[in-house]
Amino acid sequence: MGAVIDGCPPNIGLSKKCIQDLLNKRRPGQSNCTSERKELDECEIVSGVFKGKTTGAPITILVRNKDVQSKEYETLKDIFRPSHADATYAQKYGIRDHRGGGRSSGRETISRVMGGTVAQEILKQQNIEIMGFARSIGGETFENVDESFIEKNPLRMADESSFKRALAHVESVKAEGDSLGGIVEIRIKNPPAGLGAPVFDKLEADLAKACMSVGAVKGFEIGEGFSLSAKKGSEANDPFVSNLGSLQTERNANGGILGGISTGEDIWFRVAVKPTSSIAKPQKTVNTKGEAVDLEIEGRHDPIIVPRVIPVLEAMTALVLVDHILMNKALQNES
Ligand SMILES: Cc1cc2nc3c(=O)[nH]c(=O)nc-3n(C[C@H](O)[C@H](O)[C@H](O)COP(=O)(O)O)c2cc1C
Repeated sequence: MGAVIDGCPPNIGLSKKCIQDLLNKRRPGQSNCTSERKELDECEIVSGVFKGKTTGAPITILVRNKDVQSKEYETLKDIFRPSHADATYAQKYGIRDHRGGGRSSGRETISRVMGGTVAQEILKQQNIEIMGFARSIGGETFENVDESFIEKNPLRMADESSFKRALAHVESVKAEGDSLGGIVEIRIKNPPAGLGAPVFDKLEADLAKACMSVGAVKGFEIGEGFSLSAKKGSEANDPFVSNLGSLQTERNANGGILGGISTGEDIWFRVAVKPTSSIAKPQKTVNTKGEAVDLEIEGRHDPIIVPRVIPVLEAMTALVLVDHILMNKALQNES
């Protein structure tokens, strides 16, 4: 897997360690809630960094696959897995590498995390923090967020009692050869006001595109999103409060973005992640000839994608924010 990050400003501190720390958050084999693949995902910086700092040249980072077991995918050679990308890839390209999914595999997200690390280093300089957690797993959800608990549990939930119930659910579903989905919440703390654009490049539109481009993501809502649609305007509005110098509202149901532009309040949004489609439980499907066949999928699939997709969504968020920060800078230089 590789990533080339072009257009990164020079003199940003970047070490192999900071990239590796974020890759370790994403990699498989972390717990029995993720795929058993034993990949260390060790990264190599190939270009663009000198004496621990970016030079302004394109940054190239590589991770070599180690624990490859292509034979596990042999049974899938002529079969379309329900709700995976096998059928659409075959239809579109007329050729399909069945040995692991290629670009439709979760491994593709390594490159997003590598790019996101560079973006996170830029954000750190501006004191902007991105954090994500599992807001719901298999329908098990909670109200109060305990941030200190997120990295202490394999599902990255932010509530201990909900986590215990969700873990029991994941374990029993996994034992049945089945999978679960969930909802990820991302919070951006201390974002600058004025990021985004008023028409096509609205900040939430870019965030939605970035998140929806990740495999298994099937929904996006900014702030209170869908639940706002059931309220009256008087209940849904975020009243402004008097605060000289910056915008402040009593609540933040709009997720920190108005008219496509950040208000300066925290930005928050949620992403729906579907249950892993590759399940061991027997399923009915079709082969490449269109004949009905029975399918039992082997291989080391994630029983739930949510905990592993969180660092990927954090990375995508960081990339979008940095793009908008750089765009604002370019505009200021022009005027
Ligand atoms: C981090 C990550 C890990 C994933 N792991 C698996 C997996 O083990 N098995 C699987 O069938 N799909 C997995 N997926 C989901 C597939 O990539 C995705 O469902 C597939 O490409 C079809 O795309 P769609 O679900 O967005 O339509 C994973 C996705 C991510 C982001």
